[in-house]
Amino acid sequence: MRTSHRSEKLEQAFAALSANYRGTDIDLHAVCRDRRMKSPVVAGDFMNSIGVPTHAGANHGNQTFALFKYDDVKHVLQDSATFTSGFIARGLGSFFSADGLIIIAMDGEPHRAARGLLQPVFAPNAMLPWRSLIEHQIRDEFILPLVPDKRADLLDFGLYFPIRVIYGLIGFPDDELGNFYEYAAMGLSILAGPQLDPIKEAESRERAMKATNTLYEAVLALVKRRRAEGAPGDDLVCRLLRAEFEGRKLDDHEITTFARSMVAAGGETTTRTFSSIMTLLLQRPELVERIRNDRSLVPKLIDESVRFEPVSTVKVRQAARDVEIRGVHIPKGAMVQCVVASANRDEEIFDNSDTFNIDRRQKPSFTFGFGPHMCVGQYLAKMELSIAINAILDLFPNIRLDPDCPAPEITGSMLRGASTVPVIWD
Ligand code: HEM
Repeated sequence: MRTSHRSEKLEQAFAALSANYRGTDIDLHAVCRDRRMKSPVVAGDFMNSIGVPTHAGANHGNQTFALFKYDDVKHVLQDSATFTSGFIARGLGSFFSADGLIIIAMDGEPHRAARGLLQPVFAPNAMLPWRSLIEHQIRDEFILPLVPDKRADLLDFGLYFPIRVIYGLIGFPDDELGNFYEYAAMGLSILAGPQLDPIKEAESRERAMKATNTLYEAVLALVKRRRAEGAPGDDLVCRLLRAEFEGRKLDDHEITTFARSMVAAGGETTTRTFSSIMTLLLQRPELVERIRNDRSLVPKLIDESVRFEPVSTVKVRQAARDVEIRGVHIPKGAMVQCVVASANRDEEIFDNSDTFNIDRRQKPSFTFGFGPHMCVGQYLAKMELSIAINAILDLFPNIRLDPDCPAPEITGSMLRGASTVPVIWD
């Protein structure tokens, strides 16, 4: 696994995605603090103003507003009847599914029905049977072989393990893993599809469409095989083949579309989150020791890290009717950008909100979303992260930042994370 797990295409696609959503080099948290204090509801496209492509081509002519306060973001994400997600099917979603079969872009009854089928598959207790397999994948395949080296860039495996886990869960045979990194690279190129420049957008859409079709064919073949076998296993595809909600089951196309979307939904989000958690932890050597000696603190480390540095800083909705927020009129059809990075640090909700403190009494933050669309894969993501952190603390004695390399930095306006986390151990 150790030398064979690298994929140049995947590393390039990850870097291209980071560059596409990196945005302007600003102090995002300082900008958000200023908006929270002075103008918590702002007319205008906040994402574009920080150099990030949003829904280019999909929503020309719609007014856009940005929200910076916790309560406003919570209200919008919770009220999915007033603040809808359907527009995503015309923007990013069209890269994934020509027929709009993408759960984050569903509203109302179709969304409720899709959640009813998926949620039990990813519920906390449904994760337990997967735990030892995932532990083996992350710990034994990726981390253990590095021990003798006494030095690594944590991103060298942080980029790979979430994809490897999804690959295993979907139920692909182990010997085709190399191909899957190529598929994952394609998935990332889909995410890098939206561009500020419409010509670039057309080019990247063509590339993304090819990628999405290749991935679809690979997953569909597996789904058909598993159905023919009678869905005997506990992998994701078999679970989805057996899933039933209010008398309805999923067809091959639905299962394929969902399994394929997991590569994009659960891959680089987990990677970037891992990079931020490890950066925040390693910047505090006394915290490394504390958590090494008390592993019950790992979930607190994860919760506080995702509050402090959410991987995706903004979630967007569309107003289904005229509404007013803090006295600002938001007309029907307007786009509403919920600035999660700001809401997660709202000083009215979190004491000393700009301080990283794993001992704070956690209230829900919005890094995994909120309300009906809240991340289906959050328990899986947290389980993977916890396994990786524990394995690192077990296997890399006295792990610390590599003094001979530049210190890791969490950057990005829209997608945040560290691009390298160089470490050494004894
Ligand atoms: C640290 C890693 C992750 C983060 C930060 C994250 C974040 C999010 C967020 C913020 C949403 C809500 C989107 C919205 O409201 O529009 C979401 C939805 C979703 N996530 Fe995750 N996610 C992560 C990992 C995963 C994984 C591992 C999976 C794999 C199953 C996954 C699957 C999904 C799905 C299917 C949805 C759509 C749910 C819906 O629309 O009802 N995510 N995620």
